Amino acid sequence: MHQLRAARIDELAKLTELCLQSKAFWGYDEAFIHDCRNKLTFQPEDMERSQICVAEHNHTLLGVAQLLFTDEIAFLERLFVAPANLKTGIGKALFGWSINTAHRAGAKRLLIECDRHSAGFYQRMGAREEGSVESGAFPGQRVPRFNITLTPCRRAEGQ
Ligand SMILES: CC(C)(COP(=O)(O)OP(=O)(O)OC[C@H]1O[C@@H](n2cnc3c(N)ncnc32)[C@H](O)[C@@H]1OP(=O)(O)O)[C@@H](O)C(=O)NCCC(=O)NCCS
Repeated sequence: MHQLRAARIDELAKLTELCLQSKAFWGYDEAFIHDCRNKLTFQPEDMERSQICVAEHNHTLLGVAQLLFTDEIAFLERLFVAPANLKTGIGKALFGWSINTAHRAGAKRLLIECDRHSAGFYQRMGAREEGSVESGAFPGQRVPRFNITLTPCRRAEGQ
């Protein structure tokens, strides 16, 4: 069983590798994953400018979520689960953390711009698809955008 906790600055390099391995799970070629490295590299400033939650078990990192805030909008900057631990409920747990953290911070909406392969996951989590937007990381590519309205009674199960 995994636990959720705040990320520590000394594990940002490991979390970057987790994100890259997770992204590669969808079958992208090495050149694409290489191009993703800049975008997916955690920086020390991320500790101040965002909230980062990790899932771990026996001191092994299994997944990570990162939230950014702008006015009343929370943005799910990352949600990645280690390839060996996919489909074991970790994504759902980190998504629940994201909703509850955004809610507690006073956000009215949670926005997600995601890899098209993960769109089914966000649909399953109850997010509403709102078309697509140009990828921040890869100009010229479009990615699906999802929205969750955070009403006062909207809380993730079991949180
Ligand atoms: C998307 C991702 C975070 C989902 O995490 P996960 O831990 O595998 O998901 P969970 O096990 O918590 O799944 C929760 C539910 O969503 C479903 N689900 C998971 N991934 C899915 C997908 N890609 N499409 C459709 N449904 C999916 C599960 O079957 C499960 O359904 P259930 O409640 O009926 O049992 C994970 O696949 C991942 O890290 N992918 C690679 C990186 C990535 O693309 N991240 C998103 C960047 S925007």
